[in-house]
Amino acid sequence: PLVSMTEMLNKAKEEGYAVGQFNLNNLEFTQAILQAAEEEKSPVILGVSEGAARYMSGFKTVVKMVEGLMEDLNVTVPVAIHLDHGSSFDKCKEAIDAGFTSVMIDASHHPFEENIETTAKVVEYAHSKGVSVEAELGTVGGQEDDIIAEGVIYADPKECEELVNRTGIDCLAPALGSVHGPYKGEPNLGFKEMEEIGKATGMPLVLHGGTGIPTHDIQKAISFGTAKINVNTENQIASAKAVRETLAAKPNEYDPRKYLGPARDAIKATVAGKMKEFGSAGRA
Ligand code: G3H
Ligand code: ZN
Repeated sequence: PLVSMTEMLNKAKEEGYAVGQFNLNNLEFTQAILQAAEEEKSPVILGVSEGAARYMSGFKTVVKMVEGLMEDLNVTVPVAIHLDHGSSFDKCKEAIDAGFTSVMIDASHHPFEENIETTAKVVEYAHSKGVSVEAELGTVGGQEDDIIAEGVIYADPKECEELVNRTGIDCLAPALGSVHGPYKGEPNLGFKEMEEIGKATGMPLVLHGGTGIPTHDIQKAISFGTAKINVNTENQIASAKAVRETLAAKPNEYDPRKYLGPARDAIKATVAGKMKEFGSAGRA
């Protein structure tokens, strides 16, 4: 069923695993992620960025595509449709009104008081509709950043505590050195702060930039209260590789089903692997 993230994440935190957020880019991504979740008996969060929603024509299309697939694929595991890095109250409201069951309000680049104000407003509206809310503090590094932790602002534990207490969010993404896109070298995550924030807030924590984080760091993050891990780039890389290989082997192929089918299989295998690694497999 389509649900919010609240119950999924509270259970994950309590039982010591993390639920994966896998981002949607098109039909094949959505099929692959839902099939992996069903086969692995894992709860799953479908992440949708504003850009990806635009690419897929809008929030309504995304919701109806997911609903249709859940019926056609007989999906029984808990699934959340989550706005990833929502940029404003209006965007969050638009997603909620279209049927999203969860939103992230990312006001982390605004001054602290403004972040609190916007986040609280989103929480008020979202909770009135049974929708869960994720907020962010600090900055997640960008793909183009050639420095790993420097230049990236780490979330401040005191601010995290205050944001949680004053907004009523359901989970918190404290940026602690993670990066969107591939890492240059090993990631250097602020585990000390993560532990402190996990303890001080009691919130399920979210780890962005899941692509390229080694298993020992994943396990450490989970032990410090991380209950949600976001992965996008790794699926994109797996999918692009499959398309390249298929078209290289069969240069005259033109039927999209023949090169997007293998891409879908590659995404599914990647997602299933993550579900096992995060410990969410077998929990639904
Ligand atoms: O919000 C999305 C994620 O943080 C994805 O990060 O593309 O590095 O896996 P990634
Ligand atoms: Zn992110």
